[in-house]
Amino acid sequence: MRAYVIQPTFGLEHLTAVDRPDPGPVGLGQVLVRVRAVSLNYRDLLVVRGQYNPRMPLPRVPCSDAVGEVVAVGPDVTTVQPGDRVCGTFAQAWEDNPLTEAAARSTLGGDLDGVLAEYVALSEHGVVIVPEHLTDEEAATLPCAAVTAWHAVASGFVATDKTVLLQGTGGVSLFALQFAKKLGARVLITSSRDDKLARAMDLGADAGVNYKTMPDWDKWARGQTGGVGVDLVVEVGGAGTLDRSVKSVRHAGRIALIGVLAGGTGFNPLPLVMRGICLQGILVGPRAMFLAMNLFIERHQLRPVVDKVFPFADATAAFRHLESGNHFGKIVISLAG
Ligand SMILES: NC(=O)c1ccc[n+]([C@@H]2O[C@H](COP(=O)([O-])OP(=O)(O)OC[C@H]3O[C@@H](n4cnc5c(N)ncnc54)[C@H](OP(=O)(O)O)[C@@H]3O)[C@@H](O)[C@H]2O)c1
Repeated sequence: MRAYVIQPTFGLEHLTAVDRPDPGPVGLGQVLVRVRAVSLNYRDLLVVRGQYNPRMPLPRVPCSDAVGEVVAVGPDVTTVQPGDRVCGTFAQAWEDNPLTEAAARSTLGGDLDGVLAEYVALSEHGVVIVPEHLTDEEAATLPCAAVTAWHAVASGFVATDKTVLLQGTGGVSLFALQFAKKLGARVLITSSRDDKLARAMDLGADAGVNYKTMPDWDKWARGQTGGVGVDLVVEVGGAGTLDRSVKSVRHAGRIALIGVLAGGTGFNPLPLVMRGICLQGILVGPRAMFLAMNLFIERHQLRPVVDKVFPFADATAAFRHLESGNHFGKIVISLAG
């Protein structure tokens, strides 16, 4: 089979297409999946650059998110069968909460070889059947960004009388926008570009601000809530945006800490204490959460926002597009045809 590996060292210029033996024979508890589409996450770029885990053994197949068809199952497998269309879960050994160290160390395209390959062998308990109404390109976007967004907003904290603040228009934020709107919340969103803000409004965002032309977007967010502050911030910037997120959130509000896009160092924890704010670190989510999210996606017939689809042969160009920051939503690599 064809697969991409990072070798002999890190760097996008070292993402190399190679021939590898097909995985198999299919072992106990395993399913063999013929991959149809892969989606990229910002993490995949960090992995390829060596910024995610510089000590990661190489060669390694990158990427956590794929959809494909089950083509063979181990003799004891009962939950899926050949012909089923499945996604792998981000952390193969994380079926339900609480998160354990072993589960956190079972991530595709991180601890384990990933899915940027024609075939992958996965655990029976590390796959989920995907909603029927989604195309392969759409379904491939679910395992990381969508489950993370679901984890952040579907905690019971988001409801009709709540306001959620989202940062940027990448994969996590646009899933959070779609979920939060269906849960009835008011959604505020930031972006570096006015045209992207306009597209976010078309998706249902209630108000938006350009964080380049208005760097003190926290004041804007408070203004949008009558000076009270938002109920939830979906924090994808990290240290570079966290202080402003804390200023944006109300007393006893919540910040779902997810990303590291904005770099930055130093953070003053005192306002968290003084204003009773809950800072929740989020690592994607377990398989049980993926299943619950799929039910929600089916019920509301939601469709992920796919920015651009690249052929498998142009996987490096897909990563370059992610690197450019020009995308709106998800970047997908198709193995069709
Ligand atoms: N903890 C977890 O389990 C988990 C899971 C998924 C993702 N993540 C992390 O979450 C972050 C987002 O991931 P993603 O896959 O959604 O990324 P993505 O699709 O590449 O989205 C990136 C977008 O974020 C916006 N952005 C960049 N810098 C920003 C800044 N300083 N302030 C506000 N927005 C900024 C930009 O939107 P505009 O162009 O609109 O400005 C950019 O297009 C990454 O750091 C990723 O590693 C963590």
